[in-house]
Amino acid sequence: MPQSAEPTVPSPWLPGDAQLARVWLALQQRHAAAADWPAFDQRLRTHLGTLRDELATLYSERHDFEPFLIDLLRQCFAAWQSRDESLKALDNQREHDPDWFQSERLLGGVCYVDLFAGNFAGVEASIPYFQELGLSYLHLMPPFQCPEPHSDGGYAVSSYRQTSAKLGHIDELRRLSARLREAGISLVLDFVFNHTADEHDWAVAAAAGDPRYRDFFFIFPDRTEPDRYERTLREIFPDEHPGAFSQLPDGRWVWTTFHSYQWDLNYANPAVFAAMAGEMLFIANLGVEFLRMDAVAFIWKRLGTVCENLPEAHTLLRAYNALARIAAPSLLFKSEAIVHPDDVVKYIAPAECQVSYNPLQMALLWNTLATREVNLLQQALENRHALPAGTAWVNYVRSHDDIGWTFADEDAAQFGINGFDHRQFLNRFYVNRFAGSFARGVPFQDNPATGDCRISGTCASLCGLEQGDSHAVARILLLYGIVLSAGGIPLIYLGDEIGALNDMGYLADPGKAGDSRWVHRPPRSAARHAQRGDPTTDAGRIHLGLRRLIAQRAATPAFAGGHLIGFRTKNPGVLGFTRPHREGDVLVLANLSEYGQRVSAEVLSAMPDFALDLVSGAHAGLRGGLALGPYQMVWLRLGT
Ligand code: GLC
Ligand code: GLC
Repeated sequence: MPQSAEPTVPSPWLPGDAQLARVWLALQQRHAAAADWPAFDQRLRTHLGTLRDELATLYSERHDFEPFLIDLLRQCFAAWQSRDESLKALDNQREHDPDWFQSERLLGGVCYVDLFAGNFAGVEASIPYFQELGLSYLHLMPPFQCPEPHSDGGYAVSSYRQTSAKLGHIDELRRLSARLREAGISLVLDFVFNHTADEHDWAVAAAAGDPRYRDFFFIFPDRTEPDRYERTLREIFPDEHPGAFSQLPDGRWVWTTFHSYQWDLNYANPAVFAAMAGEMLFIANLGVEFLRMDAVAFIWKRLGTVCENLPEAHTLLRAYNALARIAAPSLLFKSEAIVHPDDVVKYIAPAECQVSYNPLQMALLWNTLATREVNLLQQALENRHALPAGTAWVNYVRSHDDIGWTFADEDAAQFGINGFDHRQFLNRFYVNRFAGSFARGVPFQDNPATGDCRISGTCASLCGLEQGDSHAVARILLLYGIVLSAGGIPLIYLGDEIGALNDMGYLADPGKAGDSRWVHRPPRSAARHAQRGDPTTDAGRIHLGLRRLIAQRAATPAFAGGHLIGFRTKNPGVLGFTRPHREGDVLVLANLSEYGQRVSAEVLSAMPDFALDLVSGAHAGLRGGLALGPYQMVWLRLGT
C-alpha cells in the first residue's frame, strides 16, 4: 500500500492523521458490509489511535508496520465476528458498568481442574459448592495442552487452542464457562504469553531451523550472548537450571527464564505480538472475563538490564489492552508481577491491567504472623494500598506459587530492619528452623550463592495446623479476615477454606518431584470436604468461620472498592484501618499475636461510645478502650 497517498474517501481521521485514515479505510472497505461491523467500528474509532501509538513505539521502524497493523485488525475483526452473542451482551453490560468488579460481593476462588474436580465436568458439578462459598470469580489454572510429565502445572503451553486431554475437550471448557456465567461466576484463565512449551508448534519449528519461527524465540549459536545477558539477570528457578538459558541438543542456547522446557517469546518481533494477539482473543472468546497476565514483568528483554519491568512491557500491555477493548470489551487484565512494590503498581491502570495481585500484602501478612509486629503491614496499607480509579487489588493469603519476601528494603529500613537479614529470619521461621515457630513450610529455590530462598506450604500448614498449634484456626481466619476487609477482590486458594495441609505425595510424581510448590497443591480432600459443616472439626471451624466472614462482607457496603484509611492503634501487635462509607464507616482492628492486646481509650476517643462488631454480632463499648483476644479481629461499624 502506498504510504504517502491521501485517501479520497472520507475517514474519521482526515485530514489530521493520514496513517490512521489509511488503516481504517482498509478495514472499512473490506468489512463494512458485515452485520458485526458497526459495533466494532465504534470501538475501533475510540481505540485505534492508542493501539497504533503503542505499537509504533515498538515496531514503526519496520517497513511493513502499516500492513502489519491492518492484518492485526483484520484478525481482531474476525475474532469479534466469532464472539458468542451472550458474550457480546456481557460486553455491553460491562461497558455500562465499568466498576462492577469493585463490588463487596465479588469474591474469587482458584484451583487446578484436575486436582480439584478431575476434569471440566467435575468443575461444573462443583458450581453449587462455589455458590455455597459465595464465589463470583473462578480462576482455573492453565487447562491448555502441555507437555507430560513436565508442564509447570500447565504454565508450559503447547497449544492455546486445545485443552489438556485429561481435563476434557475445549468445547467442554466453553460449556463450563457458559454455566459459570449463568451462575454469576466470572471465569478467569491465564494468558501465558511470556513463553511457550518447547512442544508448541512454533518451538518445534524453531528447533528444526525454520527461520520464521526461530525468530519467535531467543536462540543463540553459542554462549556469547547468553553470557552477556546473564551478567545482569536474576535466576528464577536455579534448582532446575542455573541462569536464564538452556542448551538445545544441537548445541544452541535458548532463553528460558523459568524451566528449560518454557521458551521465552521474543516480542521485539512484531509477528510474535500478532500471533499471541490471536491466541489472546481466542481465549477471550472462551468466555474469559479476567485474563491473568502471567509473568508479565519478563516479557521484554534488553541487554545490560535485569530484563524485568522494562518500559516496553507496559507498552505491550497497553497494546493488548487496546485490542481487548476493540474485540472483547468485557475482558479485563490481571497483572501477575511478583516484584518490588514500586514496580507492581506500574502495571495497574485502566489502560493496562485493571486488577493485580497484591504480593506485598500477602508477604506482609505472613511477616506479621512471624514477628507479631504490624509495623510493615500497617505502613503498606497506609502508603502502598491506594490505586488509580477503575482498578483494584486482588488480595490473597496463598496462591499456587511460593511466598517471596517482596517487601521494599527502603520500607523496612524505616523501622531499622535490614531487608536481607530479615528475609533470612522469615525463611528460617517458615521452614520451622526458628525456636517457637508454628509453621511447617518447605524451602523453594534455596540458592546458597545469593542467599535467596522462597517458601512453599499450604495456608493451614504455615499457620500451625499441621503442628497442632492451638491458634492455627484463628490465624487462618484472621489472615482471610484481613484480606476480605482491606479492599479489592479477595481470592481464596481452594483448599484453604477447609484447612488443606501440606502433601508430600508430589514426590512420587516425576513431573512434580523437583518443585516444592506442589507441597501446597494437594488434591481436594473428600474427607475434609465432608467435615466442612461440622464445627467440632478443624475443617468445619475454618469453613464455617470463613463463610460467616464472607457473608458479612457481602452485606457491608463499606467493603466495596479499595478506599482505606490507616488507623494507628499505638499497639505494635494490632493492625488498624477504616473503610469509609456514607452509611457508616467500618473500623477494622486485628490482633496479630497470640497474646491478648488492648487498644486504649485514648486511641479510640474520637469513636462513638458503642459500635456493632460485624464479626461477632455483639456491641462493643469503646469508652474504656477495647480488649482483643489472641488473633481476634473486629469489624466495628461506626455510626448508624
Ligand atoms: C507464573 C506462575 C508460575 C509459573 C511461572 C512461569 O509465575 O504463577 O506458577 O511457574 O509463571 O509460567
Ligand atoms: C518469581 C517470579 C514470579 C513467579 C515466581 C514463581 O518470583 O518473579 O513471577 O510467579 O517466581 O515461583
